Amino acid sequence: MKFQIAIDGPSGAGKSTVAKALAARLGIVYVDTGALYRTVGYYVRTQGADPHSAREVEALLPHIRLELRYENGAQQVYLNGEPMGDRIRTPEMSMYASAVSAIPAVRAFLLETQRAIAREHSVVMDGRDIGTVILPDADVKIYLTASDECRARRRYEELRAKGMEVDYESVLSDMRERDRNDSSRAVAPAVAAKDAIVFDNSGMQPEECVSGLMTVISKLIRV
Ligand code: DC
Repeated sequence: MKFQIAIDGPSGAGKSTVAKALAARLGIVYVDTGALYRTVGYYVRTQGADPHSAREVEALLPHIRLELRYENGAQQVYLNGEPMGDRIRTPEMSMYASAVSAIPAVRAFLLETQRAIAREHSVVMDGRDIGTVILPDADVKIYLTASDECRARRRYEELRAKGMEVDYESVLSDMRERDRNDSSRAVAPAVAAKDAIVFDNSGMQPEECVSGLMTVISKLIRV
Protein backbone atom coordinates (compact mmCIF):
# COMPACT_ATOMS: atom_id res chain seq x y z
CA MET A 1 0.00 0.00 0.00
CA LYS A 2 1.26 3.49 -0.84
CA PHE A 3 1.41 6.24 1.71
CA GLN A 4 2.25 9.92 1.73
CA ILE A 5 4.08 11.94 4.36
CA ALA A 6 3.99 15.72 3.92
CA ILE A 7 6.58 17.86 5.67
CA ASP A 8 6.12 21.61 5.46
CA GLY A 9 7.72 24.46 7.33
CA PRO A 10 9.91 27.55 6.96
CA SER A 11 13.42 27.51 5.50
CA GLY A 12 16.17 26.17 7.73
CA ALA A 13 13.80 24.12 9.88
CA GLY A 14 15.75 21.03 8.85
CA LYS A 15 13.02 19.68 6.56
CA SER A 16 15.32 18.21 3.95
CA THR A 17 17.72 16.55 6.43
CA VAL A 18 14.86 15.06 8.40
CA ALA A 19 12.73 14.11 5.39
CA LYS A 20 15.71 12.39 3.74
CA ALA A 21 16.43 10.40 6.92
CA LEU A 22 12.77 9.42 7.32
CA ALA A 23 12.55 8.28 3.70
CA ALA A 24 15.71 6.17 4.12
CA ARG A 25 14.37 4.53 7.30
CA LEU A 26 11.01 3.82 5.70
CA GLY A 27 12.55 2.75 2.39
CA ILE A 28 10.46 5.21 0.38
CA VAL A 29 11.14 8.10 -2.01
CA TYR A 30 12.20 11.53 -0.76
CA VAL A 31 10.93 14.47 -2.83
CA ASP A 32 12.48 17.92 -2.34
CA THR A 33 9.93 20.25 -3.96
CA GLY A 34 11.94 23.42 -3.19
CA ALA A 35 14.44 22.20 -5.82
CA LEU A 36 11.73 22.55 -8.49
CA TYR A 37 11.08 26.22 -7.60
CA ARG A 38 14.83 26.80 -7.42
CA THR A 39 15.25 25.35 -10.91
CA VAL A 40 12.52 27.60 -12.34
CA GLY A 41 14.28 30.52 -10.58
CA TYR A 42 17.58 29.44 -12.09
CA TYR A 43 16.14 29.39 -15.61
CA VAL A 44 14.56 32.83 -15.11
CA ARG A 45 17.97 34.12 -14.00
CA THR A 46 19.76 32.65 -17.04
CA GLN A 47 17.23 34.37 -19.31
CA GLY A 48 17.78 37.73 -17.57
CA ALA A 49 14.07 37.98 -16.70
CA ASP A 50 12.61 39.65 -13.62
CA PRO A 51 11.57 36.90 -11.14
CA HIS A 52 8.89 39.20 -9.70
CA SER A 53 7.22 39.79 -13.05
CA ALA A 54 4.40 37.27 -13.60
CA ARG A 55 4.28 38.27 -17.27
CA GLU A 56 8.00 37.69 -17.91
CA VAL A 57 8.14 34.45 -15.93
CA GLU A 58 4.97 33.00 -17.48
CA ALA A 59 6.37 33.58 -20.96
CA LEU A 60 9.36 31.38 -20.07
CA LEU A 61 7.44 28.41 -18.66
CA PRO A 62 6.77 26.71 -22.05
CA HIS A 63 10.56 26.52 -22.53
CA ILE A 64 11.13 24.65 -19.28
CA ARG A 65 11.19 20.86 -19.16
CA LEU A 66 11.79 19.46 -15.69
CA GLU A 67 12.58 15.91 -14.71
CA LEU A 68 13.28 14.40 -11.32
CA ARG A 69 15.70 11.49 -11.30
CA TYR A 70 17.14 9.52 -8.44
CA GLU A 71 20.87 8.96 -8.64
CA ASN A 72 22.70 7.07 -5.88
CA GLY A 73 19.69 7.59 -3.67
CA ALA A 74 19.70 11.38 -4.12
CA GLN A 75 17.22 13.50 -6.04
CA GLN A 76 18.61 15.31 -9.05
CA VAL A 77 16.59 17.90 -10.98
CA TYR A 78 17.18 18.07 -14.72
CA LEU A 79 16.39 21.27 -16.56
CA ASN A 80 16.01 20.67 -20.29
CA GLY A 81 18.21 17.61 -19.96
CA GLU A 82 20.90 19.23 -17.80
CA PRO A 83 21.49 18.24 -14.14
CA MET A 84 21.25 21.20 -11.78
CA GLY A 85 23.48 19.96 -8.93
CA ASP A 86 24.44 22.61 -6.38
CA ARG A 87 23.94 25.57 -8.72
CA ILE A 88 20.42 25.98 -7.36
CA ARG A 89 21.61 26.05 -3.73
CA THR A 90 23.10 29.57 -3.54
CA PRO A 91 21.50 32.39 -1.50
CA GLU A 92 20.74 34.17 -4.79
CA MET A 93 18.79 31.16 -6.06
CA SER A 94 16.90 31.01 -2.74
CA MET A 95 15.64 34.53 -3.44
CA TYR A 96 14.82 33.75 -7.08
CA ALA A 97 12.92 30.62 -5.98
CA SER A 98 10.96 32.55 -3.38
CA ALA A 99 10.04 35.26 -5.93
CA VAL A 100 8.88 32.88 -8.69
CA SER A 101 7.02 30.70 -6.17
CA ALA A 102 4.57 33.57 -5.55
CA ILE A 103 3.44 33.46 -9.21
CA PRO A 104 0.27 31.35 -9.60
CA ALA A 105 1.26 30.07 -13.07
CA VAL A 106 4.52 28.69 -11.65
CA ARG A 107 2.69 26.82 -8.90
CA ALA A 108 0.22 25.43 -11.43
CA PHE A 109 3.12 24.42 -13.70
CA LEU A 110 4.77 22.39 -10.91
CA LEU A 111 1.63 20.88 -9.41
CA GLU A 112 1.30 17.82 -11.61
CA THR A 113 5.02 16.91 -11.44
CA GLN A 114 4.67 16.71 -7.67
CA ARG A 115 1.38 14.80 -7.62
CA ALA A 116 2.56 12.34 -10.28
CA ILE A 117 5.47 11.15 -8.11
CA ALA A 118 3.18 10.64 -5.13
CA ARG A 119 0.79 8.60 -7.26
CA GLU A 120 3.55 6.23 -8.30
CA HIS A 121 5.51 5.89 -5.06
CA SER A 122 5.19 6.13 -1.32
CA VAL A 123 6.83 9.47 -0.54
CA VAL A 124 8.15 11.81 2.08
CA MET A 125 7.66 15.15 0.34
CA ASP A 126 8.99 18.40 1.75
CA GLY A 127 7.96 21.93 0.81
CA ARG A 128 5.65 24.74 1.88
CA ASP A 129 2.22 23.70 0.63
CA ILE A 130 2.41 19.91 0.53
CA GLY A 131 -0.15 19.31 3.27
CA THR A 132 -2.39 22.20 2.21
CA VAL A 133 -2.41 22.00 -1.62
CA ILE A 134 -0.30 19.28 -3.23
CA LEU A 135 -1.27 16.28 -1.09
CA PRO A 136 -4.29 17.42 0.96
CA ASP A 137 -5.09 13.77 1.79
CA ALA A 138 -1.58 12.85 2.94
CA ASP A 139 -1.54 10.14 5.61
CA VAL A 140 0.77 12.20 7.84
CA LYS A 141 1.22 15.97 7.80
CA ILE A 142 4.04 17.53 9.77
CA TYR A 143 4.80 21.22 10.12
CA LEU A 144 8.44 21.39 11.13
CA THR A 145 9.69 24.61 12.65
CA ALA A 146 12.39 26.11 14.91
CA SER A 147 13.36 29.55 16.19
CA ASP A 148 14.62 32.11 13.63
CA GLU A 149 18.11 32.17 15.17
CA CYS A 150 18.36 28.42 15.23
CA ARG A 151 17.25 28.11 11.59
CA ALA A 152 19.63 30.85 10.43
CA ARG A 153 22.55 29.22 12.28
CA ARG A 154 21.88 25.91 10.50
CA ARG A 155 21.57 27.57 7.08
CA TYR A 156 24.78 29.52 7.74
CA GLU A 157 26.70 26.38 8.66
CA GLU A 158 25.33 24.51 5.66
CA LEU A 159 26.42 27.27 3.24
CA ARG A 160 29.87 27.61 4.89
CA ALA A 161 30.35 23.85 4.67
CA LYS A 162 29.78 24.18 0.90
CA GLY A 163 32.55 26.79 0.82
CA MET A 164 30.27 29.82 0.35
CA GLU A 165 31.34 33.15 1.82
CA VAL A 166 28.35 34.27 3.88
CA ASP A 167 27.86 36.02 7.21
CA TYR A 168 25.38 35.01 9.86
CA GLU A 169 23.53 38.35 10.04
CA SER A 170 22.77 38.43 6.33
CA VAL A 171 21.68 34.78 6.35
CA LEU A 172 19.27 35.67 9.20
CA SER A 173 17.85 38.73 7.47
CA ASP A 174 17.55 36.98 4.07
CA MET A 175 15.76 34.12 5.79
CA ARG A 176 13.29 36.44 7.53
CA GLU A 177 12.59 38.23 4.26
CA ARG A 178 12.00 34.92 2.49
CA ASP A 179 9.73 33.69 5.31
CA ARG A 180 7.69 36.89 4.96
CA ASN A 181 7.38 36.47 1.19
CA ASP A 182 6.51 32.78 1.44
CA SER A 183 3.90 33.11 4.19
CA SER A 184 2.20 36.27 2.95
CA ARG A 185 1.76 35.43 -0.74
CA ALA A 186 -1.78 35.16 -2.07
CA VAL A 187 -1.52 31.64 -3.54
CA ALA A 188 -0.61 28.63 -1.41
CA PRO A 189 0.99 30.61 1.41
CA ALA A 190 3.45 28.67 3.55
CA VAL A 191 1.26 27.88 6.55
CA ALA A 192 0.56 24.75 8.58
CA ALA A 193 -2.37 22.65 7.37
CA LYS A 194 -5.21 22.53 9.93
CA ASP A 195 -4.59 18.84 10.46
CA ALA A 196 -0.77 19.07 10.60
CA ILE A 197 1.25 18.12 13.65
CA VAL A 198 3.45 21.09 14.57
CA PHE A 199 6.91 19.95 15.62
CA ASP A 200 9.42 22.51 16.95
CA ASN A 201 12.95 21.14 16.78
CA SER A 202 14.86 24.16 18.16
CA GLY A 203 18.00 22.92 19.89
CA MET A 204 17.49 19.31 18.77
CA GLN A 205 20.08 17.27 16.93
CA PRO A 206 18.75 15.82 13.64
CA GLU A 207 18.74 12.29 15.09
CA GLU A 208 16.52 13.34 17.99
CA CYS A 209 14.09 15.03 15.63
CA VAL A 210 13.99 12.00 13.30
CA SER A 211 13.23 9.59 16.13
CA GLY A 212 10.56 11.93 17.54
CA LEU A 213 8.91 12.03 14.13
CA MET A 214 9.22 8.27 13.64
CA THR A 215 7.20 7.88 16.83
CA VAL A 216 4.55 10.27 15.51
CA ILE A 217 4.45 8.53 12.11
CA SER A 218 4.22 5.03 13.52
CA LYS A 219 1.15 6.04 15.49
CA LEU A 220 -0.58 7.21 12.30
CA ILE A 221 0.41 4.60 9.74
CA ARG A 222 1.62 1.04 9.87
CA VAL A 223 5.26 1.25 8.83
O1 DC B 1 12.77 24.59 0.53
P1 DC B 1 13.63 25.57 -0.28
O2 DC B 1 14.37 26.57 0.57
O3 DC B 1 14.53 24.86 -1.23
O4 DC B 1 12.55 26.39 -1.16
C1 DC B 1 12.93 27.46 -1.99
C2 DC B 1 11.75 28.43 -2.17
O5 DC B 1 10.74 27.79 -2.94
C3 DC B 1 11.09 28.89 -0.88
O6 DC B 1 11.49 30.20 -0.53
C4 DC B 1 9.61 28.86 -1.16
C5 DC B 1 9.44 28.07 -2.41
N1 DC B 1 8.73 26.81 -2.22
C6 DC B 1 7.36 26.86 -2.31
O7 DC B 1 6.79 27.93 -2.47
N2 DC B 1 6.64 25.72 -2.23
C7 DC B 1 7.24 24.53 -2.03
N3 DC B 1 6.51 23.42 -1.97
C8 DC B 1 8.64 24.47 -1.91
C9 DC B 1 9.36 25.63 -2.00
